[in-house]
Amino acid sequence: MSPTALADKQNAEAHESVNLTKSQLIYFSSVSENTKRFVDKLEMNAARIPVFATEPPLISAAPYVLLIPTYGGERGKHSIVPQIMKFLRYDENRVNLRGVIGAGNTNFGEYYCIAAKRIAQKCNVPVLYTFELMGTSEDVLKVKEGLETFWTPASPNWQER
Ligand SMILES: Cc1cc2nc3c(=O)[nH]c(=O)nc-3n(C[C@H](O)[C@H](O)[C@H](O)COP(=O)(O)O)c2cc1C
Repeated sequence: MSPTALADKQNAEAHESVNLTKSQLIYFSSVSENTKRFVDKLEMNAARIPVFATEPPLISAAPYVLLIPTYGGERGKHSIVPQIMKFLRYDENRVNLRGVIGAGNTNFGEYYCIAAKRIAQKCNVPVLYTFELMGTSEDVLKVKEGLETFWTPASPNWQER
């Protein structure tokens, strides 16, 4: 574990104010809340990664799918926002990750949803779906149905990794 990760973890444990979740869907949405609007339309239990450092860290206690937007810097650099980086520094949040859904904007060309793609690659899990901004009604339906299939008890995603 890196020194920064260790410091975050120790800090969280010292304050004992972590937010444990068994949600199968965990998402990040900035103050513009496009992604939150999409997640609300799914009508599923979902946990939001804290936007502000003053909020207690979110720790996953069960397998989950991560749904996140991309905020790219120059040529895809720093495309994963610090809040998501901090979230993924917790071992539990990496161990329980089963797949990633990306939100973005195709105007960004080859960097469309690059944050989701990079996390999926790094954590060796699939990119399950990508959509633009707050998604269309078709996106909502596809993600809703896709997640239901993904989480059926027969699915290997239930198994311990
Ligand atoms: C400064 C900025 C940079 C962005 N960079 C990318 C990008 O590199 N790739 C991409 O697909 N979308 C990019 N987007 C689009 C966002 O991912 C999209 O607006 C998303 O819906 C934001 O979600 P949120 O409102 O929940 O935070 C960017 C948006 C902004 C404002």
